[in-house]
Amino acid sequence: MPTIPRDKLPESTLALFRDGYEFIGKRCERLGSDVFQTRLMLQKTVCMRGPEAAQVFYDQRYFQRKGGAPLRLQKTLFGRGGVQGMDGEAHRHRKAMFMSLMTQESIDRLVRLMSDKWRAAILKWAEKGRIVLLDAAREIMCRAVCAWADIPLKEAEVRKRTRDFADMIDDSGGVGPRYWRGRLARMRAEKWIGEIIEAVRANELNAAKGSALRTIAFHRELDGKLLETRIAAVELINVLRPTVAVARFVTFAALALYEYPDWRRRLVRQKDRELELFVQEVRRFYPFFPFVAARVSKPFDWQGYHFPAGARALLDLYGTDHDPRVWDDPETFRPERFLAWDGSPFNFISQGGGDHYENHRCPGEWITIELMKEAVRLLVMSMDYIVPQQDLTVSMTRMPTMPQSGFVIADVRPREVIV
Ligand code: HEM
Repeated sequence: MPTIPRDKLPESTLALFRDGYEFIGKRCERLGSDVFQTRLMLQKTVCMRGPEAAQVFYDQRYFQRKGGAPLRLQKTLFGRGGVQGMDGEAHRHRKAMFMSLMTQESIDRLVRLMSDKWRAAILKWAEKGRIVLLDAAREIMCRAVCAWADIPLKEAEVRKRTRDFADMIDDSGGVGPRYWRGRLARMRAEKWIGEIIEAVRANELNAAKGSALRTIAFHRELDGKLLETRIAAVELINVLRPTVAVARFVTFAALALYEYPDWRRRLVRQKDRELELFVQEVRRFYPFFPFVAARVSKPFDWQGYHFPAGARALLDLYGTDHDPRVWDDPETFRPERFLAWDGSPFNFISQGGGDHYENHRCPGEWITIELMKEAVRLLVMSMDYIVPQQDLTVSMTRMPTMPQSGFVIADVRPREVIV
């Protein structure tokens, strides 16, 4: 059986930093294959892209998450002991805890909280000259998700907590001081949330039934035990941190409204269906998380190649969302393409693939879509602003990336009738 095509470099870590989001795609093109092997951070790694690769990557007979993600990502982005590194029955049970928070009613409540906080912020922005939308949206998301989850958040700590949630994500792909900033942010957040969980368990702090705080504080593992405090904190942060990160997609949505003014005009007419097409295309088109990692748990053959047990595997999320075999003219921003999308769980995977309950696919996907839709409504319907000269370049080598300026808006005015 032929061996998996090999990247020509003996060690590709530097090439990964140089090619960023395009690292896997470029090599797949060059080698004429959806799969190749290389060495990354001194480890043999199999890189894969495309819907067929995604389908096998999410097949739990062959891949496990334990030992998949590099330790440095666990120490910044995920936290150790969380759902991301679990497999099998234990994963399904832990995942059900997250999915129980995702009822329509609960998502609607979060969107309402975000919307109220955004409307209040418009009045403050109007008094300021310039606003960096990424920072402002992060603060709104942080206020909203803490209120939704029942986490007490004093006014004086809003800025600091928002920064820490943002840094855990922003610095996860960094090295040196950037990595350390992310790691310290995680340590502070785990301490803060850990103390809140203990206070709820000791009945010193009330948390509403069905809230994320109560659900996670009193979640029982398969053996009937409560989660260790540190792990409960990691899981609650697994809800808070990525909700703050929705601000990054909101910033990309604002960039798209600016770069494609026809769409801005179309959205003023407020058709929910069009809003959905627009938001889906923002999630497909702009880069966020580049890859996900797993490990081959059992040797298997796929597309004529042998996958040895123990190999690390990386699935290309960005490259799959830009695969020209699935997405016609993938480098063009065209929301209408979603009218004809087949809804496959493996070809549009910016938040992971497969099934939300059974696999590792992001449980926050509906929250993300609904928060983005509301943010776009607010940007288009509830405020006027100008976009001054600035550097809007989106680097493809910084991971995760964003418009260089964070998207500055100025001269913000609330619309006469705030709907
Ligand atoms: C900002 C937009 C978001 C993006 C781009 C995003 C992306 C992702 C990705 C790529 C994964 C990994 C999928 C995999 O391992 O196969 C993931 C997993 C996860 N996401 Fe999100 N996510 C976002 C928002 C959210 C929100 C709002 C929540 C919280 C409610 C959330 C909670 C989680 C959790 C808990 C996991 C781990 C699931 C598991 O391992 O089973 N995410 N997300």
